[in-house]
Amino acid sequence: MARAGTSRAAAAVALVVAVLCASAAAEAGITRPPPVARGLSFNFYKKTCPNAEALVRGFVHDAIQRDVGLAAGLLRLHFHDCFVQGCDASLLLDDEHGEQKALPNLTLRREAITAINDIRDRLDKACGGPVVSCADILTLAARDAVVERGGPRYKVPLGRRDNVNFASHDEVNKGLPSPDANVGAMLEVLRKGNLGLDATDLVALSGAHTIGLSHCTSFENRLFPRQDSTMDAAFAAQLKQTCPAKGVSRTTPLDVRTSDVFDKMYFVNLVNRQGLLTSDQDLFTEARTRPAVQRFARSQNAFFRQFRVSMVKMGQIKVLTGDQGQVRRNCSATNNLMRTTSTAAGLPWWFVVPEAETSLVF
Ligand code: HEM
Ligand SMILES: *[C@@H]1O[C@H](CO)[C@@H](O)[C@H](O)[C@H]1NC(C)=O
Repeated sequence: MARAGTSRAAAAVALVVAVLCASAAAEAGITRPPPVARGLSFNFYKKTCPNAEALVRGFVHDAIQRDVGLAAGLLRLHFHDCFVQGCDASLLLDDEHGEQKALPNLTLRREAITAINDIRDRLDKACGGPVVSCADILTLAARDAVVERGGPRYKVPLGRRDNVNFASHDEVNKGLPSPDANVGAMLEVLRKGNLGLDATDLVALSGAHTIGLSHCTSFENRLFPRQDSTMDAAFAAQLKQTCPAKGVSRTTPLDVRTSDVFDKMYFVNLVNRQGLLTSDQDLFTEARTRPAVQRFARSQNAFFRQFRVSMVKMGQIKVLTGDQGQVRRNCSATNNLMRTTSTAAGLPWWFVVPEAETSLVF
């Protein structure tokens, strides 16, 4: 009897300890890293281009020193790439029907795309050819841009391959949430796109709006014809000075407090009803996402821990690996297209070099 009682008490103590530990872990945010997608690894270029990560980091550092806005530009490129057809650099393909020409993408920064190609050139020289994919360059540059502006450091698995196809404008428009979307609509985009991201990921990833700019056209519906009731009145009045009517092409910071710093202030804005886009402010208005917004507004560490995890998840959406796709020589064009040039140089048109033999230069 006594022994049974003791062991029951011991079991109860063990249970309490376990629960306390689990909640302490949750509170300390020991967030489990997401699984690594098949075909990706943390040391993918260890043999083929050992300095790849250091070179990207160095380039991104120098470039952002010259132009702070580039950090936001690079981060947004990675998001647009991953949400549409997966992280496959299809966004970068320069074509009159390409993804960049689709409506929500028109405000992507040219300089960010140029920077990716400049990194491509630098890596090619260092690695003796196109070894690192454009999709991996996008992933690394976005990651390093976050660190440059004060955000969290994290490791990303590598080994993505570049797609030879890009998505249709219709797919781009369906794949990217609209700035007018509420939480319900955004979760629907995540679900339909089969992106493997949940509501907490949505909140953390939206925290990327702690840096960068928006055009008036992306939130003018919140000011005209009448002010959105979920927006702070003083903030609305301030915005109207930059955007006095519909259709103005000026820009304003996404984070009214600290526009160039990667910090938790985006969430502090939301709690104070100073979110810029409907898609931002609704994260606080909506009961499903409000607790996460409040948690990140209180604790920058909590935001950073979740951001790391959510970025690694986003960076692995529908990746091509192994011998799928190719490693582009020019991030703006597929290798096949460039081979047309060698056709002109004397190769017969039917001479098609198998992709695996040409794109993997070891
Ligand atoms: C989830 C829904 C999201 C919506 C509706 C959305 C919408 C927008 C809009 C409308 C802009 C301003 C474009 C303009 O008018 O110039 C913008 C900018 C930006 N977005 Fe998002 N976004 C979302 C998620 C994300 C995510 C997940 C990231 C990255 C992880 C991101 C990173 C950025 C950055 C850094 C900028 C500033 C770009 C610059 O200054 O060049 N956004 N976003
Ligand atoms: C890369 O491809 C783009 C798009 O086809 C082209 O305009 C550009 O000149 C190419 N760059 C190089 C260095 O070949």
